[in-house]
Amino acid sequence: MSRLIVVSNRVSVTKGRGAAGAQGGLAVAMNGALRARGGIWFGWSGNEVDRFTGQLTMQRADGFTTATIDLEPHDVDEYYNGYANRTLWPLFHYRIDLAEYENEFGMGYERVNERFANSLVPLVEDDDVVWVQDYHFLPLAERLRAQGLKNRIGLFLHIPWPPARLFVSLPFHERLVAAMLHYDVIGFQSVEWLESFLHYCRKELHADVDEDVGIVRHEGRTTVARAFPIGIDHKEFMELGESDAARRAHDRLVGSARNRTVVIGVDRLDYSKGLPERIDAMERLFNQHDDMVNKLLYIQIAPPSREDVRSYQEIRATLEQKTGQFNGAHSDVDLVPIRYVNRGFGRAELFGFYRAAKIGLVTPIRDGMNLVAKEYVAAQDPADPGVLILSRFAGAAEQLTDALLVNPLNHDEVTRAIWTAMNMPLAERKERWEALNAVVRDSDVIGWAADFIEQLSGNSTEALEPAMH
Ligand code: ADP
Ligand code: F6P
Repeated sequence: MSRLIVVSNRVSVTKGRGAAGAQGGLAVAMNGALRARGGIWFGWSGNEVDRFTGQLTMQRADGFTTATIDLEPHDVDEYYNGYANRTLWPLFHYRIDLAEYENEFGMGYERVNERFANSLVPLVEDDDVVWVQDYHFLPLAERLRAQGLKNRIGLFLHIPWPPARLFVSLPFHERLVAAMLHYDVIGFQSVEWLESFLHYCRKELHADVDEDVGIVRHEGRTTVARAFPIGIDHKEFMELGESDAARRAHDRLVGSARNRTVVIGVDRLDYSKGLPERIDAMERLFNQHDDMVNKLLYIQIAPPSREDVRSYQEIRATLEQKTGQFNGAHSDVDLVPIRYVNRGFGRAELFGFYRAAKIGLVTPIRDGMNLVAKEYVAAQDPADPGVLILSRFAGAAEQLTDALLVNPLNHDEVTRAIWTAMNMPLAERKERWEALNAVVRDSDVIGWAADFIEQLSGNSTEALEPAMH
């Protein structure tokens, strides 16, 4: 079997099963995939050095090897905080009002991609398959090809792909996508993001696009584009659910809820997650129904993220102000309706919290997939499952159609969904959960990675299945 080389911005090895921390979907998925297959995980160490050397730090992890490099402070500013998180992230999450188009960001991004290519090339052997993750490395394949790499190289995008009409607001958009077309395979989380990408390639790049099988031909190269919806490591997560830590977390939350229905949200503190909008929906619920403080407890776990970026500092301040105001208005002397917690938890604890919550509130304004929705489903008690309320605008909504699907911007709709969930009969909860759980269990991260790697390893593009199914 050929070796797998994974490239991603963060290399985040979970230290033993269920380690604490807000790792994000990508880290959780990569740990699962690499543990199952073995290989090398290459990326940024998270450290800064005065002068870039490209020196690799190699470590043996849990069944695979990690290789990391340090970056200079201006690399981190321009590439990670800048182009990745102040330009691409807001644009790809449809927030062009927040997107910043600065020349230095673009130049820093290209420089870091070049540096990654220089450090990676000596690690790659002839038969290796190189799998690049996410929006930090859209042009990496082009840089690797320029250095003579002939290996199969694939990209998986963990975030949405925006509609062409928004994407063209990005300076040099054609150059970026032309560089992406040096990948052999590009994977998207959902059919919607895939369609937007293919539409852009045809309409703006004038590439030869076969939408039925997801093939883009441009400047003599052929790229396969397909939807590969990511899953969770279901088996591992279920094992964590058996642990004492999970049981303790469950009992602690149930005990402290004092017979109120627990609603849970678990999200990085990101403006794409729709957190202020959730509080607005709660506000309506509390205003419409008497005595809600005795009936409902909303736990929002939201560890801070990307704290050097102003829009993230602002969303944190907004949340603090809104939860404070809400609790001030709706608390009783011995009951507080919103518990807002700014820290990460171990995954076993998260399992326990999910199971204790009769409603999972997952309402991003835009999200590539959203693994929290899948974790919430997996953690439910089959005999008495909770209800998932899920944004239509998350990639997960294409698969989890038995959730209560809502438009997160329509506060009335979210308010109604919470009320419906609070009052849903057991038979309906079970029926919905069984359908949801079958999807989450049967399309896990191990299958996802195997599917992508199989597509990437194949030399033929002739016998492709339809790209959109
Ligand atoms: P994103 O990749 O945008 O952060 P996802 O929902 O796809 O969003 O993935 C988030 C992942 O991070 C999930 O696996 C979730 O369990 C984990 N996570 C989020 N918040 C916390 C937290 N407070 N503690 C531990 N893990 C967290
Ligand atoms: O899933 C999207 C993503 O950006 C991942 O690439 C990343 O690991 C995660 O969210 C958390 O973001 P960050 O690495 O910037 O903290």
